[in-house]
Amino acid sequence: MQSSERKAIHTEARQSPMQADHHYTPRWGALCMLAAGLALTSQALPSCPRACRCGAAESAADCSYARLVAVPERLPPELTRLNLSNNAIRTLAAEQFGALTRLEDLDLSDNLLAYVDGDAFVGLRSLLDLRVARNRLKVLPVGAFAGLPKLRLLDVSGNEILGFLDFTFRELANLRVLKALQNAVVFVSPQAFAGLTDLRQLHLDGCNLTSVPTEAFVHLGGLTGLSLHRLESAVLPNYSLLGLARLKELIIANWPRLETLSVNSLVGLNLTSLVIRSCNLTSVPYAALHHLVYLVHLDLSYNPIGYIQGNRLEDLLRLEEFHIVGGRLRLIEMGAFYGLLHLSLLNVSRNLLSTLEERVFQSPTALQRLGLDENPLDCDCRLLWIARRRSSLDFGRGPPTCGAVVRWDFLDYAATEIVELLTCRPPRIRPHQRDLVWVEQGHTAVLHCNAEGQPPPSVTWRNPELRALTDLGRIRAVGNGSLEVRYAQPQDGGLYRCVASNAAGNDTRSVEVRVRALSKSKPFRFKSWLVALPSSPPDQQEPSFDVKTLMIAASIGFLSFLSSVSVCFVAMFFWSKGKGQIKHTANIAYVPRTAATSSNGGAGNYVETSRFTMKLM
Ligand SMILES: *[C@@H]1O[C@H](CO)[C@@H](O)[C@H](O)[C@H]1NC(C)=O
Ligand SMILES: *[C@@H]1O[C@H](CO)[C@@H](O)[C@H](O)[C@H]1NC(C)=O
Ligand SMILES: *[C@@H]1O[C@H](CO)[C@@H](O)[C@H](O)[C@H]1NC(C)=O
Ligand SMILES: *[C@@H]1O[C@H](CO)[C@@H](O)[C@H](O)[C@H]1NC(C)=O
Ligand SMILES: *[C@@H]1O[C@H](CO)[C@@H](O)[C@H](O)[C@H]1NC(C)=O
Ligand SMILES: *[C@@H]1O[C@H](CO)[C@@H](O)[C@H](O)[C@H]1NC(C)=O
Ligand SMILES: *[C@@H]1O[C@H](CO)[C@@H](O)[C@H](O)[C@H]1NC(C)=O
Repeated sequence: MQSSERKAIHTEARQSPMQADHHYTPRWGALCMLAAGLALTSQALPSCPRACRCGAAESAADCSYARLVAVPERLPPELTRLNLSNNAIRTLAAEQFGALTRLEDLDLSDNLLAYVDGDAFVGLRSLLDLRVARNRLKVLPVGAFAGLPKLRLLDVSGNEILGFLDFTFRELANLRVLKALQNAVVFVSPQAFAGLTDLRQLHLDGCNLTSVPTEAFVHLGGLTGLSLHRLESAVLPNYSLLGLARLKELIIANWPRLETLSVNSLVGLNLTSLVIRSCNLTSVPYAALHHLVYLVHLDLSYNPIGYIQGNRLEDLLRLEEFHIVGGRLRLIEMGAFYGLLHLSLLNVSRNLLSTLEERVFQSPTALQRLGLDENPLDCDCRLLWIARRRSSLDFGRGPPTCGAVVRWDFLDYAATEIVELLTCRPPRIRPHQRDLVWVEQGHTAVLHCNAEGQPPPSVTWRNPELRALTDLGRIRAVGNGSLEVRYAQPQDGGLYRCVASNAAGNDTRSVEVRVRALSKSKPFRFKSWLVALPSSPPDQQEPSFDVKTLMIAASIGFLSFLSSVSVCFVAMFFWSKGKGQIKHTANIAYVPRTAATSSNGGAGNYVETSRFTMKLM
């Protein structure tokens, strides 16, 4: 991409001289002869310099490729266009073009300019376009562009400019386009762009810049297009582009380290086109994008993005074009483009996709252009929708092909053949698995669900309340299709459903889980309590308890419990004696604590005692 962009700039910048050549050459012979004739009669007026080709009618002088080492002297004052590109001019002196008050277009590109006097352009009061691309400028002298009140376009790309000083462009109130790509910019002063009140397009390149010059951009309230190339920044910080309220098109390209867009990095913008190409993003920056409801064009090509999540782009309701070319896309989740009713172009060429299902779109009929070539697609029924729509879809560079190694073009086949070629097998859950699983309370149960089918089915689990289970939590679906019920509790018992589904259908199987509870409301007996203790099999995964320690802790707790009970009885006895009223019976309800709490001897004792006393009161 970088090279293609560069090429684009290059060709564009070179277009004028080329065109000039092309258009003028046939006429030049005649015109020069005419000029020679005229030169004899009007000696006094400065005529066309010998190195140049002039067109009287257009009042244009083409002095490109003329091996000039300096700007020719005594240029015709009526010139409106002057092309000095592709020469060897090294300096521009003060008032170099003083007499050319009608000049509108000056091209100094592809020279060796290293020095430009601060007053070099004085007098060019009609100048509209000034190109100084691909020279050797290191600084732009402050005030160099004073006296160019009408300038609309300034191109200083491809120089060695280190920085932009305060007020460099102060007097260019009419400048619309400033191109400063391919420089070695290290700094941009906060006031560098002050005065560019009408600037619409800024192309800035900062291979040596480490952060976005947010302060400098504050002066560019009229900007509609901004491209920032080659910044050495790993993150686009919050509020980086605040103040660019009119910005419509933002290009961030070739930031090799850019991995994240902060959530609020694009706040304040109302973009219609966003390009973040050739960076290091590993995921679509959903959160940073979500407020861009007017976005029409989104390009995240050449980033190592692995997948597009479902239902995360739905705020971009006007999106028409989405490009992720040359990424690492393996998966576009179901519903990835839900909400995008106008999506007419999806280009995911050159990724690692094994399929693209129709169900990723909310309105697949809106799609007109689909770039899906150079992906290792699996040939099955999931691609049938593409085959069905092959006459109405524009596949761009090439049609989708199947196979990772040997690629074949399934769209070459007749419709009836395709149906037989692109087939799926509905999932089937292998029957040998147990459908009743017992588990001790506190232990882990693993429920298996082995399903086969073509394409390999995805397995989901639902709990007895029919809620889908994720890979988080105590009861979780493991990636390989199994379900883990960890630290089983009595309330976990019930019927769990495993659903295996693929594009061809689904299959369901239920497994009942029964949890063997620790003896809970049984009367408190030392023996039965011991039996109920987990027996810690060696392969057990959960933290196991040391039975010996537990017993010691428990007996300490139990002894102290007994002693407090007796103390209380004694106290009660004396108290009731004092009151004169004797209570003969006392109902003592005791809820045995689980092993885990009673292992903490002191605290458990305290809780038990207080509970007991409270009951008495
Ligand atoms: C700018 O960065 C390039 C590489 O990105 C490096 O070669 C060059 O020396 C740097 N220039 C300055 C002035 O730091
Ligand atoms: C950006 O803003 C968000 C929300 O205010 C905040 O959570 C996040 O930490 C900020 N990021 C940075 C890098 O400051
Ligand atoms: C891009 O990101 C990866 C991690 O996601 C990192 O290892 C790599 O160094 C990054 N590349 C650059 C050029 O910073
Ligand atoms: C955002 O831009 C769209 C057109 O691009 C315009 O219609 C809309 O009014 C803008 N919204 C704001 C809040 O500026
Ligand atoms: C997708 O992008 C590639 C590379 O930019 C281009 O060649 C191709 O034509 C595009 N496909 C579509 C359908 O636009
Ligand atoms: C799936 O993984 C879990 C734990 O990660 C394991 O217990 C179970 O046996 C695995 N299932 C299969 C079918 O391999
Ligand atoms: C399973 O397939 C049936 C039709 O065969 C369908 O009605 C049902 O919605 C599907 N269930 C799931 C969870 O996909």
